[in-house]
Amino acid sequence: METVLSIEDLHKSYPSRWGRPPLVALRGLDLEVPRGSVVGLLGPNGAGKTTTLKAVMGLVRPDSGRIRLLGLEVSDPRARARVGFLPEQPYYELYMTPRKLLHYYGRLSGMSRESIAARTAHLLSLVGLEEAADLPVEKFSKGMLQRVGLAQALLNEPELLILDEPSTGLDPLGKIEVRNLLESFRRSGVTVLLSSHQLSEIEEICDRVAIISEGRNVASGALEELLRSRDEFLVSLASPPREGTEPRLPPAAAWTGDRGGVVVPRQSLEAVLRALLDAGLAVERVGPRRMSLEEFFLERVGREGGG
Ligand SMILES: Nc1ncnc2c1ncn2[C@@H]1O[C@H](COP(=O)(O)OP(=O)(O)OP(=O)(O)O)[C@@H](O)[C@H]1O
Ligand SMILES: [Mg+2]
Repeated sequence: METVLSIEDLHKSYPSRWGRPPLVALRGLDLEVPRGSVVGLLGPNGAGKTTTLKAVMGLVRPDSGRIRLLGLEVSDPRARARVGFLPEQPYYELYMTPRKLLHYYGRLSGMSRESIAARTAHLLSLVGLEEAADLPVEKFSKGMLQRVGLAQALLNEPELLILDEPSTGLDPLGKIEVRNLLESFRRSGVTVLLSSHQLSEIEEICDRVAIISEGRNVASGALEELLRSRDEFLVSLASPPREGTEPRLPPAAAWTGDRGGVVVPRQSLEAVLRALLDAGLAVERVGPRRMSLEEFFLERVGREGGG
């Protein structure tokens, strides 16, 4: 599969003031973004997500490591021209309007006036800013600014879209709109790399995730593979046992909240199945247990983070 972005062994420290030691933000980070995928970059505050994305955009210079963007160096303008970027804290001149901003960025990236005008109309309707197209951004709410940022990131019809916390500041409807937008990008083959703290959102839209903590990878790979626990099984029952008639299970096994199933480690599977069948319960399905992303995240970041 073609790799749109690859990062190998990236290191970055920021100089500190007052003679304090430098602040190490990235300690050997790796990341792979295959073409057509939606990749989520997760990690606690200060993990190094923004630093990573800025390094890809050439806005932060790493101390060492290797980044290949669309087969080119990040400093190559041909690579940059094919990427759209939504920064974590977009900053715009207060007197600018969305229409003027898009025009300005479009001219910067070499688009013609006609194509900017056409694209602007489309993008402003896509992000729901038609009514505000000619108002100065000074008056904009956080969510409106985020929408301007999204429109700007999409201006040059990027092959790779890099979004630093795209749904921050958006209301619930805005979050759903962003999710639908990302879905539509996936269908049209745009590759997306986004950072986020919204684990449920990531779980819904991402094919792959990279979880980082203190500048290092904690877990990365295809989301479904990561969440499918190899050591635990879920035994699902056709119907839960009547109250008080539950069979005794080995101590390592646990009933699910609705008692419609049992979570069991591999080594106790046989004993649990026997106990359930002996009690006359109908086993409907046995399969690897799938964790939620939140569960997985807490487990990995808690453990690796020394907690
Ligand atoms: N310009 C800077 N100067 C000094 N230190 C910085 C700078 N930018 C980031 N850092 C530090 O680098 C580390 C990583 O920060 P970064 O912004 O990449 O984290 P993040 O994962 O994006 O966090 P968040 O979830 O809060 O956005 C933090 O300890 C942060 O304080
Ligand atoms: Mg950040």
